[in-house]
Amino acid sequence: KRRNFTQSLIMDKLEVFGAKKLKGSVRISGSKNAALPILAASILSNKKIILKNLPNVKDIQTMIKLLESIGSIVKYSKKKNSIIIQNKNKLKTFASYNLVKTMRAGILVLGPMLARYGNAIVSTPGGCTIGVRPIDLHLKALAKLGINYKIIDGYVHAHSKKKLKGAKIKFPKKSVGATENLIIASSMAEGTTILSNCAIEPEIKDLVNFINCIGGKIKWIGKRTLKIHGANNFKKNEYTIMPDRIEAGTYLIAAAVTEGNLKILGIDPNIIKTEINILTKLGAKIKIKNEQINIKGTNDIKNINIKTAPYPGFPTDMQGQLMVLLCKSKKRSIISEEIFENRFMHVAELNRMGAKIKTKGNKAFIEGNTNFKAAELMATDLRASVSLILAALTAKGKTTINRIYHLDRGYEQIEKKLRKLGANIRRVS
Ligand code: UD1
Repeated sequence: KRRNFTQSLIMDKLEVFGAKKLKGSVRISGSKNAALPILAASILSNKKIILKNLPNVKDIQTMIKLLESIGSIVKYSKKKNSIIIQNKNKLKTFASYNLVKTMRAGILVLGPMLARYGNAIVSTPGGCTIGVRPIDLHLKALAKLGINYKIIDGYVHAHSKKKLKGAKIKFPKKSVGATENLIIASSMAEGTTILSNCAIEPEIKDLVNFINCIGGKIKWIGKRTLKIHGANNFKKNEYTIMPDRIEAGTYLIAAAVTEGNLKILGIDPNIIKTEINILTKLGAKIKIKNEQINIKGTNDIKNINIKTAPYPGFPTDMQGQLMVLLCKSKKRSIISEEIFENRFMHVAELNRMGAKIKTKGNKAFIEGNTNFKAAELMATDLRASVSLILAALTAKGKTTINRIYHLDRGYEQIEKKLRKLGANIRRVS
């Protein structure tokens, strides 16, 4: 009897037979975190939009399902990784818990629904188990554009009497999602909006470029300040999603941790300068040629004390992967997790593989000198899952990683890409 899709996602495991140096070249896919807000922003327009370089991962499929559930017509183009979106004049303004629960970015449809239709009922998000993940910054900022809201039974009920009205908004804290929601909403508000203390992750710049490409009027007027003139008529156009910097960083660490030799293709090295500088400091040999990064690992990894921070700081989405590499150092390192309060779930699993990591509050103390041992493991969130794969790639014998549905949310064809680099990895259901 065929199992249904959800069952198979829950049952799938990965088996990794490690201790192989990765070699060869890997092409980076489109960015999940850039594609999600861009898909949400498509709600603003009733003209044809072609999106290219979308990664084929679960979160993107979920966001497309969400768009379809409100009435968008989404067609998969013959060209790989491209879709065509055609919105009707009238879309539904409801996003269900079922669609938003696995993917926090579902909350990003709130801004465009309110901007275009003046009302929305959107489930509050689920997402990773890495912390509380509130949406107060989104809601308080949207209120400044003129909306009223209430949270009833896990849903945000929001409406505005008139068209949203441009305002001056200073975010009290840097938030990727809140910045994105407000950029999208104010792109269709009346008059001018000034957003300051914005998050400036490259994915946010990609969102701004996309909206401008379909007729938006958004300008960076300071390092963290945007000036947005509301637009009414968006035009048809096509847009290519930027490459995934977190995927690129993950493969850089895969090279470093297996003492391998990789060419990373299709990523602008400038957007991962921080990661490249840190890996160089830790001993990896990195050479950059246009959009190609060559990296060679070493068996002499240095140690470091580091904090995660909003861009251009070291990304929280790379924290687990870096921790695996630091386990290989001869000396002790400290990582402070400054963005999410509960993002050390990989630690217990890495310790089961022989790592010596202690956590206290938001700090992880990594003793180093670890030769990872194969084990049976449980993946807990997207980036934690990939960190377990990285550790398993260095461990002799068979490591089994359960619950890899987390991984499928964000990494395109990871087993295939790793196998091409010489890894012995397979999926079993
Ligand atoms: C995005 C990324 C995620 C990444 C994170 C930080 C997507 C789809 N996800 O998530 O992969 O790890 O940025 O780089 O792009 N906060 C509040 N109130 C709010 C919103 C956020 O207090 O209303 C807090 C969060 O709890 C967190 C911090 O602000 O401590 C940053 O979160 P935010 O930048 O909003 O992350 P996301 O947009 O959810």
